[in-house]
Amino acid sequence: MFRSVLAPLSRSARTYASQATALAPGAVEGFVGAVGNTPLLHLKKVSDEVGANIYAKAEFMSPGGSIKDRAALFLVKDAEEKGQLKPGGTVVEGTAGNTGIGLAHVCRARGYKCVIYMPDTQSQEKIDLLRMLGADVRPVPAVAFDNEMNYNHQARRYAESLDNAVWTNQFDNTANRGAHIATTGPEIWEQTGGNLDAFICATGTGGTLAGITRYLVEKSGGKVESYLADPPGSVLFNLVENGKFAREGNGSITEGIGQGRVTENLKPDLELLSGAIHVPDSETIKMVYRLLDEEGLYVGASSALNVVAARELARKKGPGSTVVSILCDGAHRYQARLFSRVWLESKGLIDAIPEHLRHYIVLP
Ligand SMILES: Cc1ncc(COP(=O)(O)O)c(C=O)c1O
Repeated sequence: MFRSVLAPLSRSARTYASQATALAPGAVEGFVGAVGNTPLLHLKKVSDEVGANIYAKAEFMSPGGSIKDRAALFLVKDAEEKGQLKPGGTVVEGTAGNTGIGLAHVCRARGYKCVIYMPDTQSQEKIDLLRMLGADVRPVPAVAFDNEMNYNHQARRYAESLDNAVWTNQFDNTANRGAHIATTGPEIWEQTGGNLDAFICATGTGGTLAGITRYLVEKSGGKVESYLADPPGSVLFNLVENGKFAREGNGSITEGIGQGRVTENLKPDLELLSGAIHVPDSETIKMVYRLLDEEGLYVGASSALNVVAARELARKKGPGSTVVSILCDGAHRYQARLFSRVWLESKGLIDAIPEHLRHYIVLP
């Protein structure tokens, strides 16, 4: 029977159409195709220090610049698959950081509007960057989560008020954890040939730690252990180590990590964790400078904290052990602080940086 070429394409016809415009063998499809498949870096100096193998996924090489590109893509794909988001729709999220950047990129690549609610305490650079990426940024008063005017609640209500819109809800939408079960976990397994003893990383939403933990522990039949790395001010270290819900230390210079609750993303995999390592800011900042000096890696504080924790875990596991972690993002977004003498002094962290590394403090 004759069929108009304008009629909607059947599944087999769509496959045929995509084959007709097949990609070059070494190419991927735009921004979305470039998310994931990051290199696994061997960190030689830190490894040698403890006689172990320390590896880390180079998530700062993701096209949006962070580990959160993976979550952003899976949150959007999940909404599409559930029919919550149709062409021309709106993605709404409450975020002050990397997830917003990832979502803004994915929304441009997929043709959606992106609305970001954030506390009005955030830096102008963050607001400007999101706006440059085409997002509609709405700074709102910084109030606690139990206040209905909190930026997360405002994001949810705004999405509910629109047709064809979704509140991606990165903390409690487990499509975030799903991104790491589907991609980051299998990548680590393949890149190490399954030869690793343990994984460790810090959590914000918990998506990265939970998803990778689930995949690696199950895939290895329980041989690979997984651990939490935690900054000061978070409740998770004590929860994992002592079963008590209590903060360890006060605030931290790290951004995007540390938690005051167990998110829906972390909940299903909390029981699989073998332990936790608390990392003080003085160790974290020193590692920011060491990674730059020894490995040529310009990474943010959460990445540095992960490497400190991986080194401590490798020390515990013993010589010859293999530990994997995550380099979550680059230092560019934090450089005005991390490399500023005034800021480091204000945090009492100058002395934590060894004399021979202080020439990297180039900003006043
Ligand atoms: C810089 C940075 N590191 C680590 C994380 C933690 O990742 P997750 O939310 O998957 O726990 C985040 C999350 O926003 C982040 O922005």
